[in-house]
Amino acid sequence: MTKMNKDQIPENVVIFDTTLRDGEQSPGASMTIEQKIEVAALLDDMGVDIIEAGFPIASDGDFEAVSEIAKNAKNSIICGLARASLKDIDRAGDAIKHAPRSRIHTFIATSPLHMKYKLNMSPEDVLEKVAASVARAKSFTDDVEWSAEDATRTEHDFLCRVVEVAIKAGATTINLPDTVGYAMPDEYKAMFEMVINRVAGAEDVVFSTHCHNDLGFAVANTMAGLAGGARQIECTINGIGERAGNAALEEIVMGLRTRQDILPYDTRIESKMLVRASNLVSAVAAFPVQYNKAIVGKNAFAHESGIHQDGMLKNAETYEIMTPESVGVKATNLVMGKHSGRHAFREKLSDLGYELGDNAFLDVFTRFKELADKKKNIYDEDIIALVDNEIAEANESISLVSLEVAVSTDRQAEAILVLNIDGKQVHNTATGDGGVDATYNAIKALTSDTQNLLRYQVQAVTEGTDAQAHVMVRIEENGKQVIGNGVDTDTIVASAKAYISALNSLLLKRDQLHAQ
Ligand code: KIV
Ligand code: ZN
Repeated sequence: MTKMNKDQIPENVVIFDTTLRDGEQSPGASMTIEQKIEVAALLDDMGVDIIEAGFPIASDGDFEAVSEIAKNAKNSIICGLARASLKDIDRAGDAIKHAPRSRIHTFIATSPLHMKYKLNMSPEDVLEKVAASVARAKSFTDDVEWSAEDATRTEHDFLCRVVEVAIKAGATTINLPDTVGYAMPDEYKAMFEMVINRVAGAEDVVFSTHCHNDLGFAVANTMAGLAGGARQIECTINGIGERAGNAALEEIVMGLRTRQDILPYDTRIESKMLVRASNLVSAVAAFPVQYNKAIVGKNAFAHESGIHQDGMLKNAETYEIMTPESVGVKATNLVMGKHSGRHAFREKLSDLGYELGDNAFLDVFTRFKELADKKKNIYDEDIIALVDNEIAEANESISLVSLEVAVSTDRQAEAILVLNIDGKQVHNTATGDGGVDATYNAIKALTSDTQNLLRYQVQAVTEGTDAQAHVMVRIEENGKQVIGNGVDTDTIVASAKAYISALNSLLLKRDQLHAQ
């Protein structure tokens, strides 16, 4: 690594975000169309250059999501993925057609292992497919990316031949993925150098990294790819993706920004939006972020040990290589409590990015006071959870009126539940294996029992036994999956709210509710 000259302006590299495509392929991380549109809007605002919005041939839902995202795009280029088949490419071309700027990304495997066992094709057949698929993609847009799937396990001579064919057919970006997360940084760098040196026309295209994290090297490999000549980076928010995931966008952006003394690259990303993007993706995909995750984890800027705290008080640079504010963590987490008044609460909401109308403000303020009666210190995370919950509940047809749960070590738990369903109060008493099970049985008896609970997850919003619990559930009915969130100081009540919120989302998807 060489030191950067102080006056040297770093070169902007292209950020290609694939949270909505490769990220969504994470087991259990599927998102609804509305959620994908929300994530894409945030990525666009944050400065992502290219959003890979989905794989249009995969399902009608994927097609619709890509098409809607294309219609709403502002600055980002919207990209659809396609295999090397004309049907795939035509579907992708149709999905991206409304975007002000669009791209088709087409790929085929090039390693001996994939060609023989997965594709059952000879290298010559693959070369033909590449030429035909890139040419077809060119008939929809000038901006065509071609990927050599499993590039890092592809023979070098063949990799050079196939890249040359793709460039001749009109590809403008060449992606060399480490599909199975097998490469080491030096190898990945050398592969780019080798291809760029040997292939005719390489100087006219942009080379791209795409790294999976099976061995935990995705971000290191991405940085090595840049050193080897790549100028586009494929990545995802929170590093979600197939198996162990993809290179994490937030780590790359902050890595480049923090080490600009030796790395002559930057991105157009507004880093202050990174935590917001992380929270949104985690919430909509029901995919928690590990506490010690670099940049966006809950503990990323926490200093627990006395020595560290002492150093931090004397000079934050002792233990912080970047500021929490630079990634969107607020500098002061001003604690609110039951003595905080309306004015202070409104200021706090505004600091957190919420501008509520008078009625909504009063509702949220009432909820805040109720919470303050139960919990001494109320942190930003509590308020965010409370407002998000209130906004989500405002238009729901099912709401929780009251819940009483009796649990015992000697017998089954019992839940007495009252719900409001379309303005009518209904109640039920049910038993179950523990308070949550009894409550869910009572809710199902009052609504319908046709859903499967796929995931149930509890997280404490802050520290302490009086912390609010945030419960996330994913339920499924007739192949449709929805997510529900609930927050309360009591875990069972939060669980009830989460299930009810998921049912409300499901109601939007199906016409009638079998309320009894
Ligand atoms: O990992 C991979 O090879 C991919 C391709 C579709 C680019 O995701
Ligand atoms: Zn991938």
